[in-house]
Amino acid sequence: MTKTLAAPLIRNLTQEEREDAIDSIHSWMEFPDDASLIGSYPQVFQAEGQALSLGAFFAGKLSSHTAYRRVNLRASNGFIKATLVGDVATAPEHRGERLASRILEKLASSEQAAGQDCILLWSDLWEFYARLGYAPAGVQAELKMKINITQDCPGVRPAAIADLSAILELHEQKPWRVKRDLSELSLLMSVQNLDCMVLTEDSRILAYACHGKGLDLQGWWHELGGSDQALQKLIPAAMSQLRQKEAVLILPPYRHALITKLSGLYEELREGIVALCKPLSSRGLCDFFVDGLDSI
Ligand SMILES: CC(C)(COP(=O)(O)OP(=O)(O)OC[C@H]1O[C@@H](n2cnc3c(N)ncnc32)[C@H](O)[C@@H]1OP(=O)(O)O)[C@@H](O)C(=O)NCCC(=O)NCCS
Repeated sequence: MTKTLAAPLIRNLTQEEREDAIDSIHSWMEFPDDASLIGSYPQVFQAEGQALSLGAFFAGKLSSHTAYRRVNLRASNGFIKATLVGDVATAPEHRGERLASRILEKLASSEQAAGQDCILLWSDLWEFYARLGYAPAGVQAELKMKINITQDCPGVRPAAIADLSAILELHEQKPWRVKRDLSELSLLMSVQNLDCMVLTEDSRILAYACHGKGLDLQGWWHELGGSDQALQKLIPAAMSQLRQKEAVLILPPYRHALITKLSGLYEELREGIVALCKPLSSRGLCDFFVDGLDSI
């Protein structure tokens, strides 16, 4: 016999409700007890991050949650409006009741009505998202780096708060990127378990590279800024300083020339996808790349 289910109320959470829901979302996401959701996703759960949450409620009780953040994404066809989605989680006793699906359907229609061009998210659950109209999109090169000998390079050191303006300038030089201001960058850089290394010359920042991010992307270099020439010096030296013998380096399509420059330092090159995408307008059908710090 088919179970008849009451329809949930799907609506945005207030900031106070979001704060109250953090422990529930933490456990629904099966996040480790000793990890912090706020520390791992500051752009989602800190009030300054300007992310929103949609929830499914039964009698006023939150039973499923999805966070989203609207950004301007500079893609192959200029700036488009993208909605980044994450922290999709349903209370175990309500799983299989289509709550997450209903929230995502409602989100797609409200984001389309708001003039957004696409929704992007990061997940291994491709089949679940395919049913809701999401498909793998964007290509990135993934280099399996292997460093056998110490690669020293003067001027390579961990980034400091005073470097943020210079790092933002390097970010703004990228042809494809999420638009950020200084306070957004500062929030993104506050994520736990992030290694951000810089290459300096005469106290100028020539390049930066980011490794790890909360519980995500450990063992992955996921965001780079600066010229290919500067990154050719920075990446092996940064790996050496962090005592990494192996790591995967993500390269956007516009960094194809860096692959040749790093020859001899990687043992495998494969192609990956950037995100799962649901286009909401013709402008959402484009080539793009999202740096690791922006994904939620
Ligand atoms: C994934 C999740 C959000 C789905 O929520 P939900 O409200 O039960 O989703 P729906 O009822 O709309 O859809 C259920 C579908 O999810 C899919 N699904 C759920 N967990 C899955 C998993 N681990 N692997 C593959 N598919 C999964 C199933 O295909 C299921 O379909 P079925 O009903 O035909 O079996 C929920 O299982 C959850 O909170 N999981 C833990 C957190 C998580 O993994 N979040 C996803 C991060 S992107």
